[in-house]
Amino acid sequence: MGDQNATIVYWVKMTLPFFTCLLLSCDQKQQEESLTISNPIVQLNDDLFEGMNKVVVHQSPDAVYKKDVSYEAFPLSEVLIKAYPEWKELLQQDAVLIMRAIGGYVPQMPFSDGFSGRVYVATNIEGRGSDQAYDCWDEGGEEHCDLGYFLIWTDGFYPERPQPWGTYEFEVIPFETAYGDAIPQSSEMNVIAGFNKYRKYCIECHQINFVGGNKATEHIARKIPLEQNLLDHFLFNFRKLDPTTYMPDFNGILTPGDSKEIMAYIDHMQTHQNYCVSEPDDPRCEELRF
Ligand code: HEC
Repeated sequence: MGDQNATIVYWVKMTLPFFTCLLLSCDQKQQEESLTISNPIVQLNDDLFEGMNKVVVHQSPDAVYKKDVSYEAFPLSEVLIKAYPEWKELLQQDAVLIMRAIGGYVPQMPFSDGFSGRVYVATNIEGRGSDQAYDCWDEGGEEHCDLGYFLIWTDGFYPERPQPWGTYEFEVIPFETAYGDAIPQSSEMNVIAGFNKYRKYCIECHQINFVGGNKATEHIARKIPLEQNLLDHFLFNFRKLDPTTYMPDFNGILTPGDSKEIMAYIDHMQTHQNYCVSEPDDPRCEELRF
């Protein structure tokens, strides 16, 4: 008899949310949770920009040309509104925007950062004919000329930030799909705050559980764990010693307190090396074994 009661209680518990949903109409909630992006991958081309108003953006000095440049450009927010009809839902869910460039640079940012007013999609240098959009420039001994769309940052987040030239494609993916193994399994405030900062400032170049950008190191799947001193050194001193590095100087952007939160997140993730546990045969994990 006791067992039977337990069984009934079990089934009521399991089915209650379903019946409550029927009564209260949870349609909307369910839709939000399973938002499908109708067209996640969007090519940048003249069709997309048709009917949009260009603005002139002065970069002084420009990160690529190392001199003052004025671009004709579209604010990224307007491009995203045009490209993604469900942009409001994407903002709410804080989806992830991935940008692919010919140069092989694949930066990513929170979708909401596309609405910060600091990022533009440049199509040309002001006053140039479309047949000769950009000056040629040299990068690592390779000459590049007239390569489609430049993505430019105007907030001086750091002036030398690589600007993806030849950006040809955007992709928007849901937060969980994008960050899966990098999402902390903790409810501690400093770990979550650290993750949010890591997402905003670091994951574009670095990786956690091999989730992230392709410009720099993996921060947890490694032989020598990252420590606070080394982290502070790279955040606040390293660029002074090596002005040519891609690693930004975070003085004035992050505080030592922020660095502690980022460290709390990395420490937490060091005990959750999911990727190398589930994919031990990946050669990148193999390298980490002594
Ligand atoms: C634009 C790309 C970029 C961004 C953004 C970036 N880094 Fe880096 N980082 C690099 C590069 C490149 C190096 C390698 C430095 C070198 O040797 O020139 C590096 C090196 C480091 C190192 C030392 C190498 C290691 O893994 O032990 C640490 C620590 C580090 N970064 C932490 C961070 C943190 C934390 C953030 C975010 C607050 C961040 N970085 C943001 C590109 C970046």
